[in-house]
Amino acid sequence: MTTVGILGGGQLGAMLAPALQDLGADVHVYDPDPNAPALRRAAHAASGSWRDVPRLQEFFDACDVVTYEFENVETEGLAQLSGLDKLLPSLGVLRTTQNRALEKEFLRDHGLPHVDFVDGRTAEELPAAARAFGYPAILKTARGGYDGKGQWRLSSSVDLEALLSTPARAALDASGWVLEEPIDIVLEVSAIVARERNGDEVVFPLFENEHREHVLDVTLVPARLPDDLAAEAKAVALAAARALDVTGLLTTELFVGRSARSDPGQVRVFTNEFAPRPHNSGHVTRKACTFSQFEALARILLGIPLVPPRLVSAGAYCMANLLGEVWEAQGAPSSLDLSAWEGAPDLLEVVLYGKSGVATKRKMGHLTVRGVGADEAISSARALREAISRTGPRRSV
Ligand SMILES: Nc1ncnc2c1ncn2[C@@H]1O[C@H](COP(=O)(O)OP(=O)(O)O)[C@@H](O)[C@H]1O
Ligand SMILES: [Mg+2]
Repeated sequence: MTTVGILGGGQLGAMLAPALQDLGADVHVYDPDPNAPALRRAAHAASGSWRDVPRLQEFFDACDVVTYEFENVETEGLAQLSGLDKLLPSLGVLRTTQNRALEKEFLRDHGLPHVDFVDGRTAEELPAAARAFGYPAILKTARGGYDGKGQWRLSSSVDLEALLSTPARAALDASGWVLEEPIDIVLEVSAIVARERNGDEVVFPLFENEHREHVLDVTLVPARLPDDLAAEAKAVALAAARALDVTGLLTTELFVGRSARSDPGQVRVFTNEFAPRPHNSGHVTRKACTFSQFEALARILLGIPLVPPRLVSAGAYCMANLLGEVWEAQGAPSSLDLSAWEGAPDLLEVVLYGKSGVATKRKMGHLTVRGVGADEAISSARALREAISRTGPRRSV
């Protein structure tokens, strides 16, 4: 039996674990939080910090192969381990993709389409760099940001000065920063490439992503994108996976939109960021595709060949995230009331991640529906989420 270790015990690990177990693997999970949901899915659960080298070494020693579901794993601890060749995707891939500055430099060095940017190390360098770069701009910490955290829209030097007198300054100093041009976004898409040890690769159908307050709200597949832009988005994702020499999954987030700095009238593709792991948008593959992103990664880790993934049927599929707000609307119950599922045959799945503690904007679950067309799938996913929010104990009193 192959033993697979997963670093990180969130919902991505909780969905990856059963995919591995279905193919006969023994799953071990490591997370600093002893309540992390994936720990309950594992044959062996380890809890320790990312800097606890002896514990990490023990974890690695017990596994044949190790992957990660969280790209903010601190690499300083990992770098000290022996047997790092078990880590897939490699430590080098993790280092590049967890740092926006390195990611952007990678894009520039490989001639891949990206937004105009400048990067730097300290907050002190920022005012001069921003003056030279020009406003408006989006400032992001190089490391640690997610779901819009660690980024700020700046319309002038006044915004920047105000920001630099807040605790954000320390975060910028600690991790470095990237300043980028705001794109006038027409739509956002993501592409998941699954790449085997021997370099064989497949790419999932493109996902169209709609964010709300920087958090993914819904994902639609197939994405509504003209053929030429779709082909370019897939080509960029494949080129990046090859250049990074990824074994595993590489998710590429792309903007389709206009840049005010170059060809303002032209709708183009810009690479935003990478995630070397399953991705929230890829949850839709669980129902929409012949195999899911989790099965794809499981096969790669276990050395089972991939075939190109396809949509299981015509029509459109929409995944809607269930954030903490849905639980709050029901009065924060420990188990969500799903009676709204009755009479909804197109609701293909609801997945609840089993996180302890409801919080606003926290990703707590998702649902996936099938519709005849894109608009119908999106509106029905949103309507079902709304219907779930309207049920439960709070409403019945
Ligand atoms: N340069 C940009 N121009 C326009 N919108 C942006 C830009 N950068 C980020 N955004 C918006 O913010 C969202 C989150 O930014 P992103 O860089 O993907 O960070 P994260 O997903 O790690 O929070 C993007 O999906 C997009 O909607
Ligand atoms: Mg993102």
